[in-house]
Amino acid sequence: MPAGSIRWRILASFLVIISVIFALTSTRLTEYVSGFLYEQRIRQDSLSVERLADTAAPLFASADEEGLRESLLRAGGELGGRLLVLDRDGKVQFDTWARLMGTRLVTGEVQRVLSGGETVSYGIHHTADEGWVAYCAAALTGGGGALLYVRDVAEMMASLDGVRRDLTAVFSLAAIAAVAAALIFSHVLTRPINRLTQTIRRMGEGDLSVRVPVKGSGEMRRLAESYNTMAAQLEALDRSRNQFVSDASHELKTPLTAMKSLLEDVLYQPSMPEETRTEFLSDVDREIDRLTGIINDLLTLTRMDNGRLEIHAEPLSLSEGVQETLHMLRPQAEKRGQKLLADIDEDIRIQGDPNKLSQVFWNLIENAIKYTPDGGTIEVRLRRRGNEAIFTVRDNGVGIPEEDLPHVFERFYRVDKARSRETGGTGLGLAIVKQLVNLHGGEVKVASVHGEGSVFTVILPAEAEG
Ligand SMILES: Nc1ncnc2c1ncn2[C@@H]1O[C@H](COP(=O)(O)OP(=O)(O)OP(=O)(O)O)[C@@H](O)[C@H]1O
Ligand SMILES: [Mg+2]
Repeated sequence: MPAGSIRWRILASFLVIISVIFALTSTRLTEYVSGFLYEQRIRQDSLSVERLADTAAPLFASADEEGLRESLLRAGGELGGRLLVLDRDGKVQFDTWARLMGTRLVTGEVQRVLSGGETVSYGIHHTADEGWVAYCAAALTGGGGALLYVRDVAEMMASLDGVRRDLTAVFSLAAIAAVAAALIFSHVLTRPINRLTQTIRRMGEGDLSVRVPVKGSGEMRRLAESYNTMAAQLEALDRSRNQFVSDASHELKTPLTAMKSLLEDVLYQPSMPEETRTEFLSDVDREIDRLTGIINDLLTLTRMDNGRLEIHAEPLSLSEGVQETLHMLRPQAEKRGQKLLADIDEDIRIQGDPNKLSQVFWNLIENAIKYTPDGGTIEVRLRRRGNEAIFTVRDNGVGIPEEDLPHVFERFYRVDKARSRETGGTGLGLAIVKQLVNLHGGEVKVASVHGEGSVFTVILPAEAEG
């Protein structure tokens, strides 16, 4: 578990909390228990010793040694401890254990009684030869001096130790339980994060199909869902890019192959008549034009994808724009014996990019010419409806089957691959039209009956009349 990881932090926090609680509770609790035990002892012992001192004082004062010995020995037997009588200098005058006669014994308790003015004083000590003992000193009124009661409190101290040990044991168990809980808790908490990290790593290595399981509720669930959504979008984007690149390569390959075989013919047939040679080379020239056209279309599309295609909007007359495009395409229609009818409302003005709008008109009218047999009719119309300019191109050409209609605006989509290749189509024209119209805040629609003809409609926001 690396330091700094969430698991480690949770564990450390748990341990700190537990230790602080333990330290606080155990000191408070032992203080409370020991206070309870001492106080009872102190009260009892002090009372007994004080009472005994009252009886012993006159005996000590009158130097009735025999009486003193008798009463102390009896009391010592009853109390279950050792009794000593000290004179005002702290010298032992009598000891029920008869060991310290004549020695000076000045413990804190004795001092407080002899010179501190207290009638009774109590304290607990640990000595090397006696172990844990309690001293209770009481003043012998009248003759001066003190009565000292020494009692073995080993048992009491042991029980206090027992309490401490019990507490430690209980808290150790609690700490172990808390650590276990922290481990489990942190595992549950970090597992989804770890899984997500692994998934992101695999995605970083290039596998865009990986997803994380969406489980549970709350933040983790939302995180997993957001991640999966993002991954799906990336995957779709990646797929469409790949598709685009492969389609584009394919499209570029066709004119290149054609050019190569044309040039090979010219190259390996030195005896080729001049006329044929010129014809071949003009074919090559046409293929180059086509290649340039495709590359330009591809550039336009990628620029639009990158958001780099800018619209240089200016007030312009849409009517004039359409007329100009018609003028340029008319020879193409005439060559095929097609009727190109125009019905253009005067002076429809909009805010737009003239070059890009011309490209829209050009692509749609050119399609109508391309996909209408010789001698057909193409009607181009421009109308205003409220705040909208409506441009329509209607032809009575081959039409588009219903199942292909939803796809004609897709990149590289061609209804009849063989036929459109013949006519030089790449399937990019309508994709570009759609994007350019969208950039102008308009929309483009198609209606068609297979074998009867098609109508393409562009609706653009226009300036109000007047
Ligand atoms: N007026 C129309 N009549 C019938 N089919 C059409 C018409 N316009 C477009 N289509 C169909 O829609 C397809 C896509 O048109 P689009 O203009 O995008 O491509 P293209 O004309 O084949 O090639 P490009 O315009 O890139 O040179 C065409 O290949 C054709 O099958
Ligand atoms: Mg086209």
